[in-house]
Amino acid sequence: MDCITSIKELQSHEGCGLVPTMGALHRGHCSLIEQMRTHTDDVVVSIFVNPAQFNDPADLDRYPRTLEADLVAAEAAGATAVFVPEVETIYPDEGTWLPPLPDVATNPQLEDACRPGHFAGVCKVVARLFDLAKPSLSIFGEKDWQQLAVLESMVTAHADRWPGLRILRGPTVREEDGLAMSSRNVLLGEEERERGLGLSRALKAAAVAGGVAKAETAMHEILVEHELAIEYAVVRDATTLEPIRSSEEEPSARALIAARLGAVRLIDNRGT
Ligand code: PAJ
Repeated sequence: MDCITSIKELQSHEGCGLVPTMGALHRGHCSLIEQMRTHTDDVVVSIFVNPAQFNDPADLDRYPRTLEADLVAAEAAGATAVFVPEVETIYPDEGTWLPPLPDVATNPQLEDACRPGHFAGVCKVVARLFDLAKPSLSIFGEKDWQQLAVLESMVTAHADRWPGLRILRGPTVREEDGLAMSSRNVLLGEEERERGLGLSRALKAAAVAGGVAKAETAMHEILVEHELAIEYAVVRDATTLEPIRSSEEEPSARALIAARLGAVRLIDNRGT
């Protein structure tokens, strides 16, 4: 496996399967690499802690960085190359293209409202990676359901810029007890780790609650029991992320939670 840093080296992988990450790789990331490997033999994993998507400088500072272990994990999962660019390579000047944000990145009042500028930063870096790598496939995890919806929408809107590019979805990988894997989980103490289970428990309850209002009530109760500070706990249209009108069918519904545990912010979601 190659570890590459320059645009020129990346361009030799044109048409690859691109797996964008911010490193601190865990089994969730590795499952994306493995899934991509079933589609193509040229799998490039990018590792770039993207300053543009952190609205809290402290969050950027304490973001875990584990490059040596990441290279071992990426190779074991089937990566052909790992692209580890410098900030100057990704953002050579102020003029980096910022794609117009799709409605799903600004209307729902969920992550878009809780983390102003976050989706702009995500779209900026992913658009730049697509421009540089010209992948034929890329993959994003359902763990970040809203990010996935935003990026799918961006790619659909700019089909002429990235012709033929297809986006794959990777199912959420969880710990045995249900906690969704996240690079931020290492920041949780033992007692916080237990309380963090409130998210997956609340989502399970939402899935069997029978209706949006009951699901939202059930989620709130469970999150409060776990002493989690709720940012939102809602059931939304899975594609637009907007509130579900009562005439609509259930199958496209998604339960979405963001909650704080001290300084750590956790998100999770599940189909209902
Ligand atoms: P990061 O948080 O490193 O995640 C990289 C990819 O792994 C994302 O597509 C994310 O949804 C997926 N992922 C994270 N945890 C997962 C889990 N438990 N199961 C399955 N997939 C999981 O998301 C980002 O980085 C950045 O925003 C990025 C898209 C790279 C742009 O900077």
